[in-house]
Amino acid sequence: FKIKNAELEIVCGITSKLPNNSQPEFAFAGKSNVGKSSLINGLMNRKNLARTSAEPGKTQTINFYHVNNEFYLVDLPGYGYAKRAKGEVEKWGRMIENYLHTSRVLKNVFLLIDIRHEPSANDIQMYEWIVHQGFEPIIIATKADKLNKSQLPKAIKLIRQTLNMPEDELLIPYSAVTKKGREEIYDIINDRM
Ligand code: GTP
Ligand code: MG
Repeated sequence: FKIKNAELEIVCGITSKLPNNSQPEFAFAGKSNVGKSSLINGLMNRKNLARTSAEPGKTQTINFYHVNNEFYLVDLPGYGYAKRAKGEVEKWGRMIENYLHTSRVLKNVFLLIDIRHEPSANDIQMYEWIVHQGFEPIIIATKADKLNKSQLPKAIKLIRQTLNMPEDELLIPYSAVTKKGREEIYDIINDRM
């Protein structure tokens, strides 16, 4: 898998019209600060094309990154960010839902979960929503570098159990630091193009 070029092509705020792309889209959902933008940078081989931050709530728009003029990686705003006003949260929720619902070229929604934490009620809701919309959920357990080898299996088991995942569903540990898991994610994207 070779990244020839990548650019931020479309940015959608609450009031913007969603694009009507014809090339495949792959979206990345998850709690604020879980590492969505970092993962997208890792996949695009870019350091900071997608803006990241140690502070949650960095990505506040739906950002479409066009890769190789072939497909889009879609960076979604994070949910579960407490400092945000309730009305805002609802508007964003609707915006994300509206996108996931109306895109005709969305191939996959990757759901990111911090490998160190038990999935939250919001994570479970997002997971169920993905399944309900007829997408195959693919879980990416982020920040895998924060655990040592002996801690990994237990953490993965906790995520699988809490989400009640069937055994044949994919869970990929990923690290933005070591890029562990990147090839597996490329393979999934390739398979679904
Ligand atoms: P929002 O845009 O706020 O929803 O957050 P996000 O999900 O896009 O998270 P982002 O990629 O901005 O990462 C949040 C913080 O976690 C940053 O400080 C990243 O450097 C850090 N981070 C992300 N992925 C990893 C990882 O795999 N390992 C480690 N150690 N840190 C990570
Ligand atoms: Mg972000």
